[in-house]
Amino acid sequence: MTDDVTTLDVVVGGPAGRTISPDLWGVFLEDINFALDGGLNADLVRNGDFEAGPADRPGWGPLTGWSVESGEVRAGSALPVSSANATYASLLPGEGAAFLVNRGYGADGMPVPAATFGLTLTARTHEPGARLTAGLRPVGGSVSAASELTLPSDGRWHRIGTMLRRPDAARMELVVEARSGRVDLDLVELRPLDASGRPELFRRDLVEAVRRLRPAFVRFPGGCLVHGFGLDNMYHWKTTIGPREQRLPLPNTWGYHQSMAIGYHEYFLLCEELGAAPVPIVAAGVCCQNVPGGPQAIPAGRMPQYVQDVVDVVEYANGAPDTRWGAVRAAAGHPEPFGLRMIGLGNEDVVDAPFVERFAQLTEALRAAHPEIELIGTAGPWPFGRDFEAGWELCRRLGIDLVDEHGYRTPRWIWQNHERYDGYDRTGPAVYLGEWAARSSTVRSAIAEAGYMVALERNADIVRMASYAPLLARVGDSQWEPDLIYFTDDAVLGSAAYDVHRLFAEARGDQVLDVQVSGAPLGHQPEPRLGPTALTCPGARVSFTHIEADGVPLPDVVVDDEHPETTLAVPPLTRRLALTATREDGTEGFQVRLGDPASGTTHDVIVGSWGNRSLIWSRSDDGLGDEVDGPYPFAGVQTGVPRRIEVERDGSRVVVRHDGAVVHDHTDDRRSWPEVVVGATSRTVEGDVERVVTIVNGSDRDRTARVSVKGVTGPVTATSTVLAGSEPEAGAAFEASALHRRDDRVEGLGELALVVPRWSITSLRVRAG
Ligand code: AHR
Repeated sequence: MTDDVTTLDVVVGGPAGRTISPDLWGVFLEDINFALDGGLNADLVRNGDFEAGPADRPGWGPLTGWSVESGEVRAGSALPVSSANATYASLLPGEGAAFLVNRGYGADGMPVPAATFGLTLTARTHEPGARLTAGLRPVGGSVSAASELTLPSDGRWHRIGTMLRRPDAARMELVVEARSGRVDLDLVELRPLDASGRPELFRRDLVEAVRRLRPAFVRFPGGCLVHGFGLDNMYHWKTTIGPREQRLPLPNTWGYHQSMAIGYHEYFLLCEELGAAPVPIVAAGVCCQNVPGGPQAIPAGRMPQYVQDVVDVVEYANGAPDTRWGAVRAAAGHPEPFGLRMIGLGNEDVVDAPFVERFAQLTEALRAAHPEIELIGTAGPWPFGRDFEAGWELCRRLGIDLVDEHGYRTPRWIWQNHERYDGYDRTGPAVYLGEWAARSSTVRSAIAEAGYMVALERNADIVRMASYAPLLARVGDSQWEPDLIYFTDDAVLGSAAYDVHRLFAEARGDQVLDVQVSGAPLGHQPEPRLGPTALTCPGARVSFTHIEADGVPLPDVVVDDEHPETTLAVPPLTRRLALTATREDGTEGFQVRLGDPASGTTHDVIVGSWGNRSLIWSRSDDGLGDEVDGPYPFAGVQTGVPRRIEVERDGSRVVVRHDGAVVHDHTDDRRSWPEVVVGATSRTVEGDVERVVTIVNGSDRDRTARVSVKGVTGPVTATSTVLAGSEPEAGAAFEASALHRRDDRVEGLGELALVVPRWSITSLRVRAG
């Protein structure tokens, strides 16, 4: 089969005997990239609880997000609103007013998404003459209608509110002003009012964007956020519910402040609003392993309470209002249950003895108290490796219902691993592909993802659930890319992956159908190459000496920030590269890149990645790279200590030695892959059987497809949706999708003939016979 064949024959058969899980496509909401405060949380005030501090981000403090225009404003902590919200602002007017201004999350002021806003704040004063007013004004302008807030001078905290009208401007600021006496201020919230005058909990345009994905479930709150950066940073659901002042804000793992204004209760409300099942993930009693000092576990003596807390979340979600936690939910305004069906234990944890012990304790307690709840285990951060194997083994042993696999991989890896789930054991736990994405927001990544989604759907009897990650990212304030949905204060920018996910959600089938394809071209993976060779050392100055390429000595080089990449003038290098690297200065390690970037594929020996803590052998295809061996723990490159690196290649196998010891012995994955994949499912629409045929073309050529349904010779009609990109590299993170959508109708006799454009996904909803 060669790429010269541009005609594709697709024959759709009968049921393949696999029922597609109704929970297949969901979303994963983690507070990363300002997804909640500054994102989904409709509150426009930044740091309204005055709890920001250096633990959130160096340089931050209680008045971050606020500016003092006149008078004096100090952070206070004596007799706070609550111990959970220990810091407040004291407005100390002098001759004139004490004037505090908040501009929200954007650099140029708050957006103005409504005509009226509800302002609520908590304040106290001891001084009878003290006056508190609040208003909105155009950025840098003046407040036209300030609202005076009635505040008793009894020295107690009071929650008070008022309605404010939008100023006549595209950007605004909130102004809070105290006169004639000190006023303490905390928990300031400004929310757009909806048509019936109620304050919005969620930013509407973001909710609508998520709704268009028709998520069957919402995973929350993490991700890494769940187990936290150290035991004190672990996410505990009980500290995120109840009145706002009782919620415990936390430094966010991703380097900012989380107010918990969107806590567990709001999460359940969101699921309800979206018609999605909640899938909470809780820490399995251990914190993130990537903290200084390594993994830490909740001490054994504190585990019974922690286990009880986890068991209680089920009662909070599902318990009758006369149960202890059901009553708390009812008091929050929701007597009806939230319908929790499953819960995840752990996230990407190291599967070591403390983890296993705690995971088993949680499993046992949940099973005893709530046998109706399905349990999801964890299998490490990569779709292979030690924790992957150990996580799966543990889940099989304990009879866990689903295993949470994660896979952030390159488009090439995704294409090469299409058949991954075809041979999965159908008798053990099912798969929840809880976090996955190709490595960019380009057309190339989105089309690879679409191909993988065909494979996931084909295996949706065993891959019961999948959620791309992360879901949301604020443009200009993000810690992770790619993401499914980018947003600014004013706009929602669905990525190419978002378009693809939407299409799959719209065309979700019930049954997998057999499908035969001929004419699909194959992509081929080139052999690893050792030359040309480039040396890079971001964050270090390294001298490379005793360099030999296939036995030929080369001159010494020094690589530093001024010469960040040096390409060695190597002869055609086929077998062996050796060099001695000595760091002269800096804190990081170094990297040896092998192969010609112009060929599309390179390999890297990475010595001291992840803050000089790991050893990695990685492969990049089409400019996107992934670890293919490692990361292995590493004591770090030391200044002044030479390290001899030898790389030997024998066909697809590469062996890397450090000071004579083998670190990597890896055989490259050279599997070819079909550049066009086709899937078929069926469902019932308005009483008729509809077949959904999905054709993903990840090649550089348009293809003509002839699609027929076995046994049907008469008229065939289909509505088609095509998402096509002009070039594979089109599109980027923080931009709207580079895929273009076209909806059409196709008709034929016995078969449908259509052109499947290069770099596209075509979804045909076929009615035949
Ligand atoms: O989705 C971003 C992060 O990726 C998650 O928090 C973590 O689980 C994974 O490593």
